[in-house]
Amino acid sequence: MASTETESLYLHPDRNIALELVRATEAAAIRSYPWIGRGDKIGADRAAVDAMRAFLSTVDFDGVVVIGEGEKDEAPMLFNGEHVGNGRGPACDIAVDPIDGTTLTAEGRQNALSVIAVADRGTMLDASSVFYMDKIVTDAAGIGVVDIRKPIGENLRALAKAKGRDVSDLRVAVLNRPRHQQLIADIRATGAGTRLISDGDVAGGINAARYESRIDMCVGIGGSPEGITTACAIKALGGFMQGRLAPKDDEERAAGEAAGLDCDRVYELDDLVRGDNTFFVATGVTDGELVDGVRKKGPIIRTESIVLRGKSGTIRRVRADHLVEKWLDADDR
Ligand code: FBP
Repeated sequence: MASTETESLYLHPDRNIALELVRATEAAAIRSYPWIGRGDKIGADRAAVDAMRAFLSTVDFDGVVVIGEGEKDEAPMLFNGEHVGNGRGPACDIAVDPIDGTTLTAEGRQNALSVIAVADRGTMLDASSVFYMDKIVTDAAGIGVVDIRKPIGENLRALAKAKGRDVSDLRVAVLNRPRHQQLIADIRATGAGTRLISDGDVAGGINAARYESRIDMCVGIGGSPEGITTACAIKALGGFMQGRLAPKDDEERAAGEAAGLDCDRVYELDDLVRGDNTFFVATGVTDGELVDGVRKKGPIIRTESIVLRGKSGTIRRVRADHLVEKWLDADDR
């Protein structure tokens, strides 16, 4: 016998806006393809931003960019407060990351993604005034078990127990940065293994929450925008996430507090994005564990995307073949 909730999802299907938004991440990934490995991350980002903006304008929704990206290095950006969509349809918050992993793209390395996350208007935490966030992400096994306030060793032992595995069997994704030297040593001291990622902690976080991935946890300080985007995906994956802002200095702390943020607070998943009406789409720019990157073969350019919806928990993979002649300038084919 189906539950009432199951019946209502089945009997009253509604629109999945992510299935339209995936065209925008596909467009961004395809247009950044000629820039892969060219050593120009600003050029790659600009190509992705322009394509994403053009495709977002076709979607029936009234989106406001709450989480734009680019302030860090004055990259081209879809800026915070910018209205996107054609203005008709639901009022939404939108987080965009035309390329998460601009350096990875410029250097032709793995794991760069084009990402969009959407939620109801007013439900995403606007963390834009503090650039960095300390984050911890696991799958559902971490709920009520892991806590960012506890030492990493304690968290790993508790997670291993909840999963019925040995700590030495756990893999932890961490951005490979000098600021994480002690964290990495502490993880290794428990016997767990590290997966050091050079960039791209959105993919790292999602992999930590996916049941078929080899990553069990993603932890450490990365971008706040990436934190909110990741949270939208974790809702759909039913995983666990907490975040705590990590201001660089007193000035940034004061700016965060003036904007209504609490830099000492642990933000639970539902504080990062409220409710379950979240959508998340990501298209691979370069190959990664989550999705394949853009490939060009003869007249075809192939993309792979993941499309997640919080309300239903649906995880889709979308593989699309596009015509090179419709997408790439003659010089880039
Ligand atoms: P960009 O694509 O903007 O370069 O971001 C990549 C990234 O690795 C994010 O995934 C991560 O959250 C952030 O940068 C970490 O910042 P930093 O490189 O300053 O440590």
